[in-house]
Amino acid sequence: MKLKSLLNKLASEKELGSIPRPYFNHSVEKKKAFTAEQRAEVLARVGLNVFFFPSEMITGCDLLSDSGVTTMTNEQWAALHMGDEAYGSNRGYFALKDQIRTTFGEVFFNEPGKGEPNAFIFHQGRASEDALFTQVGRLGQNMIVPSNGHFDTTGANIEANRMQALNLFCDELADRDLGFHFKGNMNVVKLKSLLEEARDRVPLIYLTITNNTAGGQPVSMENIRAVSSLAHQYKIPFFFDACRFAENAWFIQQHEHGYKSKQVKDIVHEMFSHADGFTISFKKDGLTNMGGGLFLKADGLFVKKYPQIPGVLLDYQILKEGHPTYGGLSGRDIMALASGLAAVTDKEYLAYRINQVREFGEGMCSRGVPVVMPVGGHAVYVDVDKFFEGTKMRPDDFGGVALCAVLLAAYGHRACELGYFTFGHFDRVKKVDIFPEVNFVRFAVPRLRYEKQDLDAVAEAMRVLHNCRNEIPGVKVTYGRELPLRHFKARFEFK
Ligand code: F0G
Repeated sequence: MKLKSLLNKLASEKELGSIPRPYFNHSVEKKKAFTAEQRAEVLARVGLNVFFFPSEMITGCDLLSDSGVTTMTNEQWAALHMGDEAYGSNRGYFALKDQIRTTFGEVFFNEPGKGEPNAFIFHQGRASEDALFTQVGRLGQNMIVPSNGHFDTTGANIEANRMQALNLFCDELADRDLGFHFKGNMNVVKLKSLLEEARDRVPLIYLTITNNTAGGQPVSMENIRAVSSLAHQYKIPFFFDACRFAENAWFIQQHEHGYKSKQVKDIVHEMFSHADGFTISFKKDGLTNMGGGLFLKADGLFVKKYPQIPGVLLDYQILKEGHPTYGGLSGRDIMALASGLAAVTDKEYLAYRINQVREFGEGMCSRGVPVVMPVGGHAVYVDVDKFFEGTKMRPDDFGGVALCAVLLAAYGHRACELGYFTFGHFDRVKKVDIFPEVNFVRFAVPRLRYEKQDLDAVAEAMRVLHNCRNEIPGVKVTYGRELPLRHFKARFEFK
C-alpha cells in the first residue's frame, strides 16, 4: 500500500523527459578506426559517390538508407532458423500469407487454390514495380501514372515502360507551417484537373506512404480517402507504394482527428481498405534485410478492369524470380519477414522509432541547420537551397552532393543527396540541367540500429558544416551527368 502511494507521488518517466528504449542490444558489431585523411583519400578514389564508399570505413552513422539495414529482433533471428528452403510451398510461405492477411486484410492474399492468384512475392520492391509496370505499360500509349511522389526506382520503372511518372506534391510541402502534419499528401486539385483532361491515359493512381520523395512526410487518411474516391469516380484503380505503411499509420493515429483511440493495426486496415493493390519493399516496415511484393485486392478495381494481368504476372514472376511460393526469397528470409511484419505495428516500437527521428531532426534544427519540418517518419531532410543560402553555391554546383562528401570525409557519417542531382537530369539536346522541385540531403535512420548519442554526433557535425558553408566547394560531374539513374553511377570532383 505504501509503495502504491509513493508511486502515485513520483514523477512518471514521461515527466522526467527521459524514456528508456523499448528494447536492448541483442548483439553488436564493433567499428574499425579510420582517420578523416584515409576517408578523404578513398572518397576521392570513388569519385565522391557515397554509394561506392566502403561501409566498413564509416566510423559514424551510416544514414544512406533505412532500407534493408534494420537490426532484427531476437525473434526474427530465431525465425531464420525455422526457414524452410523447399522449392515449393515452404513453411514460410504459409506464415507470410497469414501475416499479410492479418496486417493488410484478407483480400490481399487469396488462400491457395481459392480465387485468382493476387499475391506476388518478389526479392525487392523494385522487382515488383518492374513486374507491375511492364504489364501496365502494355495497356496503351502516352500514359501517365500520377503520384504524391514517386520514389526514384518507381519513377524509373514507369518511364522504362514508356509512361510518364508525374509527381503531384501538395502545396503545403513548400510552406513553413509547422502545424501541418501531412505534407506527403497528394495535390487533389491537380489530380482532378489531370483526370478531367486525360482520364483515358491514366492506368492507375499511386500514393506513396510515407512520401519518401517529399521529405518522408506522411499522408493523411483524409487524403487517402479523397484520392481513392476520385480515382474510383473516374474508374481508375488506386494503389499504394506501401514501404512505410506502419509509420504512416502512426502519424494518422497521432495527428489526425478521430484516430487517437484507434490502434495502429486498425488504422492500417482502414488505409488499405481504400486501395485496389499495392507494391511494397519489405526492407523498410517489413523490418527485414530483403523482400518485396505486389498485392492485388480480390475483386478490386484493378483485377476487374485488367482481368488478364494477374495470370501474366504469375508467369512473369516464375520467369524472373522463382516459384510463386518463394518469389525470389530464401525460406529463411520469408520467415524473418513474417516475424518482422508482426512486430512493426507495435505501439512502443513505433512511438520510439518516430520520436527518435523527430528528436534527431529537431536537434539539427536547434543547431541552425535548415530541415524540413515537421520531421517525417524515417529520415531527416536537410533543405540544401536554404543550407547554402547567401553562399556562392549554384544549382549546377550540386551543393547536396558536395555536402555529403564533406560530411563523410570529415566526420565519417554517410547521408545521400535526394535533390538536383538525383531527381534532375541533363537535357542532351539543349545541353542544360533540368532541376526538380525538391533539393534535399536525406539522413535516413535505420530501424533499431543507432542510439541518441550517435545521432547527436551527426547533428553536431552538421552544425559545424553549416557554420563553414561558405567554404564548401561545389562539385563538377566528371562522369554520368547524362545517364539515367545517374546518382548511383556518377563520379564527381570538387571544383
Ligand atoms: N518505394 C519507395 C517509397 C522506396 O523508398 C523504395 C526504396 C522503393 C520503392 C524500392 O524498394 O529498394 O526494395 O527495391 N527505397 C530505399 C531508400 C532504397 O533508400 O529510400 P527496394
